[in-house]
Amino acid sequence: MVKTKTFLLFFSIFILHSLSFSTDTFIYGGCTQQTFTSTSPYEFNLNSLLTSLVNSATYTSYNNFTIVASNPNDVVYGLYQCRGDLSMPDCASCVSRAVSRAGDICPATRGGVVQLDGCYVKYDNVKFLGVEDKTVVLKKCGSSIGYDPSNRDAVLDGLVGSGGYFRVGGSGQVKGMVQCIGDLSFLECQDCVLEAIRRLRSDCPAADYGDMFIEKCYARYSIGGGAHAYSKSHGKSDNDSEKTFAIIIGLLAAVAILIIFLAFLRRICEGHQGK
Ligand SMILES: *[C@@H]1O[C@H](CO)[C@@H](O)[C@H](O)[C@H]1NC(C)=O
Repeated sequence: MVKTKTFLLFFSIFILHSLSFSTDTFIYGGCTQQTFTSTSPYEFNLNSLLTSLVNSATYTSYNNFTIVASNPNDVVYGLYQCRGDLSMPDCASCVSRAVSRAGDICPATRGGVVQLDGCYVKYDNVKFLGVEDKTVVLKKCGSSIGYDPSNRDAVLDGLVGSGGYFRVGGSGQVKGMVQCIGDLSFLECQDCVLEAIRRLRSDCPAADYGDMFIEKCYARYSIGGGAHAYSKSHGKSDNDSEKTFAIIIGLLAAVAILIIFLAFLRRICEGHQGK
């Protein structure tokens, strides 16, 4: 029976891990230095802003809100952006997780930002809506695999050339993705994407994946689906591996039920022998 329990524990951790991989994977977070006191008007306004963000994410993948107040210290600005391929229910659940994550890491600061795999949430007392900002927030390069970068560069060029705030592209083993935050104009988005891709090329020359998160946009690519989280939900071969994964999970569940059933039968038999 102890063995069965260990097995089930392993089993549930495995599932939790695979689910958290999809859209809720934490990428980065940050808080401002200025704090607010609890039960202050700022706290009240911030809560009302965060509620608006979460509600809005059930019907649109980008929105911004401003909670106005007569005292400038009590004004709160906020926005969220879901990754363009998320369904509305997934967008809403991602934003709600990002908001609660922000509350955990920034319990009493005026501003906070959280980027999860599937969505981005930011709020502050200082106005940042519609402001272009090309500061690099997070850069990650995979291990260098000595891969000829020409195919990767072609995919990245394709991302620059295609329009929209969310872009995906791929060729062979290479997959790429770009996402702008909806408060940028189209030209600003294009400018941000160019910068992110320029930096990916120069900073991750032969890496098997690259992530470049700039304040108002990001660009990511992976080669061969490698160590990369987001690539799991894109492309044909990845869908196949997802199917295989689902079948394995199904088999594991069947085995778990069988073990429980056998243990149950044994208890009944032992009960009979005891009489
Ligand atoms: C903020 O939202 C308002 C109302 O939905 C919209 O008109 C405005 O363009 C948005 N501003 C930015 C910077 O996205």
